[in-house]
Amino acid sequence: MKRNILITGGAGFIGSHVVRLFVGKYPDCRIVNLDRLTYAGNLANLRDVENRPNYTFVKGDICDYDAMRSLFAEYDIDGVIHLAAESHVDRSIRDPFTFARTNVMGTLTLLQAAREHWNGAWEGRRFHHISTDEVYGALPFDGT
Ligand SMILES: NC(=O)c1ccc[n+]([C@@H]2O[C@H](COP(=O)([O-])OP(=O)(O)OC[C@H]3O[C@@H](n4cnc5c(N)ncnc54)[C@H](O)[C@@H]3O)[C@@H](O)[C@H]2O)c1
Repeated sequence: MKRNILITGGAGFIGSHVVRLFVGKYPDCRIVNLDRLTYAGNLANLRDVENRPNYTFVKGDICDYDAMRSLFAEYDIDGVIHLAAESHVDRSIRDPFTFARTNVMGTLTLLQAAREHWNGAWEGRRFHHISTDEVYGALPFDGT
């Protein structure tokens, strides 16, 4: 395989479309979908790609540091598209600890696992974090 790309939260609303796009568009890349399958995750979203040779599903928690280190090593991950999150704002008011755990500590755990695995060899390695305006801030309106 040319590249080994980890997509987190690939059973979710946006992630399942990203997984399908990458599995179909890049048959020479292994796509590893890591998802904890919370209430928001549904593998039925991916029935049409689940048997493709370049697709692997792993059930796991991005907050599990040892598991994330093992995952990076097992699949020699060289790119990450990180979408796993608690994403429903109403739930963040009722259950803020779960949000902080997944969105903050989970993201930090993945970053640290990537940094350790890549160990200074950054060329060609990419970590994309898909998040929201509460994290990145609003884009300036340019009138278009
Ligand atoms: N949906 C939108 O309209 C929208 C808009 C702006 C930004 N975003 C952002 O895009 C990202 C993805 O959004 P979405 O709508 O696909 O979310 P979603 O809630 O539909 O899916 C999130 C996925 O992450 C998984 N997950 C949750 N906790 C996990 C954990 N600890 N370990 C592993 N997997 C875990 C869930 O099982 C689920 O499959 C989020 O960061 C969200 O804030 C979404």
